Amino acid sequence: MRKHFFSGIQPSGRLHIGNYLGAIKQWTGLQDQYEPVFGIVDYHAMTVRYDPGDMPGRVLDAAASYLAAGLDPERSILMVQSHVHEHVELAWILNCVTPMGRLSRIPTFKEKVRQNPDNINMGLFGYPVLMAADILLYKSEIVPVGEDQVPHLEFTREVARKFNSVFGETFPEPAEVLSRGAKVLGLDGVNKMSKSLDNCLYLDDSDEEIAKKISTAMTDPSRKRRNDPGNPDICNIFSYHEVFSTPDEIEHCANGCRTAEIGCLDCKRILIAHLQDLVSPIREKRVELLSRPDDLVDVLRVGGTRARSIARATMAEVRERTGVTLGRDSA
Ligand code: TYM
Repeated sequence: MRKHFFSGIQPSGRLHIGNYLGAIKQWTGLQDQYEPVFGIVDYHAMTVRYDPGDMPGRVLDAAASYLAAGLDPERSILMVQSHVHEHVELAWILNCVTPMGRLSRIPTFKEKVRQNPDNINMGLFGYPVLMAADILLYKSEIVPVGEDQVPHLEFTREVARKFNSVFGETFPEPAEVLSRGAKVLGLDGVNKMSKSLDNCLYLDDSDEEIAKKISTAMTDPSRKRRNDPGNPDICNIFSYHEVFSTPDEIEHCANGCRTAEIGCLDCKRILIAHLQDLVSPIREKRVELLSRPDDLVDVLRVGGTRARSIARATMAEVRERTGVTLGRDSA
């Protein structure tokens, strides 16, 4: 039987190439060896203010991106976090072995407090505990994520260790799996590519948008004129080449830039073609999938049922360990 692991994305807007490279691309390669659970984590998305009327559309949109980017609902379990109540049940139990001081030191909490000073809620504070529950509920040994999630994985290991030491060996300590694109910078060349920073190349951008965004994106800031030699090591566009282009193209761009034989636009043209090749089939498939929303909902329903049966087995064990069994059915 294939082992499970959980990884997920918040339905907080359109998915971008950071999500693709940091997470989804790796996921597609793990569907034979494991039976992974890929969640659309809607409870996590509730930690910031949102319009409830938008949520169903955002969940559908994420489901379409999952499928369009190559996730296979036969080999993987595609689900919505809120369809499986056990996620919140386990989160509560893990809350009870989590020191508050430890949570307050998590860098993503500090960052969120800076971004949302008017809405510092308990959900935001306990966000990593719910994430630990997502991961441990499926006894994940690996979790493929982008680099920004590493502090959450460290925290998850600590919680697993603590639970095991208090209540007996129950959970493995999961390791993060990072890809080559684990930290994709945004088009500004400074910050991580992020929905909240408006510096993204989206998985549904048109060919024209891709060309325009890359043509105007930051390059090596020290290269002011066409004839100045540049430094690929500090060029954001070159960091994209390292992920998307062939070894020959990477060498051509690096040498051409250092010697000023090629200009930034030449270098960008090669990249634009690769990005268009990556994004256009995903974009077209998404449109087709979104034209059949009922089929997408069916995929999520089936995924929810499959996920729940794994989650129930883990929770039966957790209830035994924690002594909350009297008078209740094992499910
Ligand atoms: P989220 O929704 O912010 O991002 C989803 C995935 O995309 C990766 N990612 C990136 N990778 C490389 N470069 C970038 N610029 C970039 N931006 C985003 C993220 O690292 C992530 O893997 N807390 C999680 C969601 C979550 C989860 C989980 C993940 C909830 N429960 C359990 C794994 C396991 C989050 O906010 O991801």
